[in-house]
Parts: sequence; structure tokens; C-alpha cells
Amino acid sequence: MSNLVEAPLLSAFDVKKEYDTPVGVLEILRSVQLIIRKGEMVFVTGKSGSGKSTLLHLLGGLDRPSQGKILFEGKDMTEMSEKELAKIRSRHIGYVFQFYHLLPELTVYENVLLPTLIAGKPNKIWVKEVLKRVRLWNRRTHFPSELSGGEQQRVAVARALVNHPAVVLCDEPTGNLDAENAASIMALIHELNAQEGQAFLIVTHDEEMASRHERTYRLHEGVLVPGQRFTPHPEVSPSPKQIL
Ligand SMILES: Nc1ncnc2c1ncn2[C@@H]1O[C@H](COP(=O)(O)OP(=O)(O)O)[C@@H](O)[C@H]1O
Ligand SMILES: [Mg+2]
Repeated sequence: MSNLVEAPLLSAFDVKKEYDTPVGVLEILRSVQLIIRKGEMVFVTGKSGSGKSTLLHLLGGLDRPSQGKILFEGKDMTEMSEKELAKIRSRHIGYVFQFYHLLPELTVYENVLLPTLIAGKPNKIWVKEVLKRVRLWNRRTHFPSELSGGEQQRVAVARALVNHPAVVLCDEPTGNLDAENAASIMALIHELNAQEGQAFLIVTHDEEMASRHERTYRLHEGVLVPGQRFTPHPEVSPSPKQIL
């Protein structure tokens, strides 16, 4: 690969989102700027109600901004028809929700196969491969209700990846899991990012985990503020002398 910087995959320019409510206009996103390139891992933290899910909905083409542009591979999603948007969502953008959103009447296998059928590209070989990668091939005939939260989230990750999206948007993917399962989902996301080169945008309440990564932002008062790099523990941090 060349040393040139990758072209942006998904970008937001001066994105604003307001909701009209009976008590007046709520300004949730004031001016969001963001560029996600191929293979990047980007983290967004922020208080509950700060607009994280709203931002992911806009980036994923599930909703439209009040103002500003959202480009997918240079094409303005805000000007696309519903049909064009649905195509981009189905083929190029994966989405992982906090509460999994699996279809309860379908098996693990069928839940993961379904997006390939919707995209008109059924691929049973890849469904098998992706289920193996999330270590659930042996549970393929089970229904979501027969799985633990961590296992259901692994199915949701497999489903988000099955159409080889360029970018995967994850809305608090570990928010409903215990520490062990949360760590295993994050390890899986890192592994898939390394193997497949997919970009991930991960919304998390886990500020410490997010701050270990280079590209971390905090959503605050409607704008994305670059986060500070995490310093592990003062006693194990190198002294300025060691760094120099
Ligand atoms: N459709 C809607 N209509 C009105 N207000 C909304 C709507 N969706 C979200 N909100 C409000 O926008 C704010 C941000 O919500 P959300 O994006 O879900 O925050 P977060 O994911 O950071 O917790 C909240 O105050 C929420 O109540
Ligand atoms: Mg949310």
C-alpha cells in the first residue's frame, strides 16, 4: 500500500441536528466535523443524552441532518433518495446496536444470512466464515433467546460484517455487557479491524477504554472535542527524561 493518506470513507461537515418538540426546538448537534478513513478505529464518548446515537443515525443514513453534509466515499448522503440510502446502508455500512436487535424468530445462522439476501448477494460460505470468526458456528441453529448477552452481541457483530461493509458503526456495543463479555467484544472488533481492514466508529460510555486509542472524541454541547490520550498510572508512566 502507498504512504498516501487514504481517501475519506465517511465524513461529516458542519452537521447540525435539531428536533422540533412541543416545548420548542432542541438543538442536539451544533456543528459536527468528522472524517473516517479506511481501516481507522474512531471512538466517541459523551454523557447520556449528548447526541451520540443521533450522530450514529445520521452517519448511518438512518436519519438526515437539519444542516450540513454527510459524505460516503465523496457522495452526499443528505441528497440521496431513500432507495439510494437503503442501498448504501445495506452494502457499505454495518450497524451494531447496544441491545443487539436480532430477529427473535430467526436462528443465529438466519440472522446473519438475512442481510446478504436483502443485498441480493447470498453468500453461505462467508456466513459460515464470519460465524466461525465470532466463535458461534457451533451455535448456528440456536435462537437469540437461547444465547447470553455477549453471544447475542457477537451475532450482531457478525451480522453487521456479513456484507463486507467499509465502515461499521457501533452504538455502545458493550454497554449492556459485563466486563468479561465487553472485553471479548472489543477484542473481536480489534481482530476484525486488523484482519478485514474495516473502519469502526465506536460509541462507548467507557471513557478509559476509549482514551487508550489515538482517535477519541467526546461529544460535548453539540460538537466533537478531540480527547486526551490516556495515561495508564502515574507510577508506571515514563518520566519526561525517559521519553526524551
Ligand atoms: N426523535 C427525537 N425527538 C426529540 N428528541 C429526541 C429524538 N431523538 C433523540 N432526542 C433527544 O436528543 C438527545 C440526544 O439523544 P441521543 O442521541 O439518544 O443521546 P445519547 O445516545 O448520547 O444518549 C436527548 O435529549 C433525546 O431525548
Ligand atoms: Mg445512545
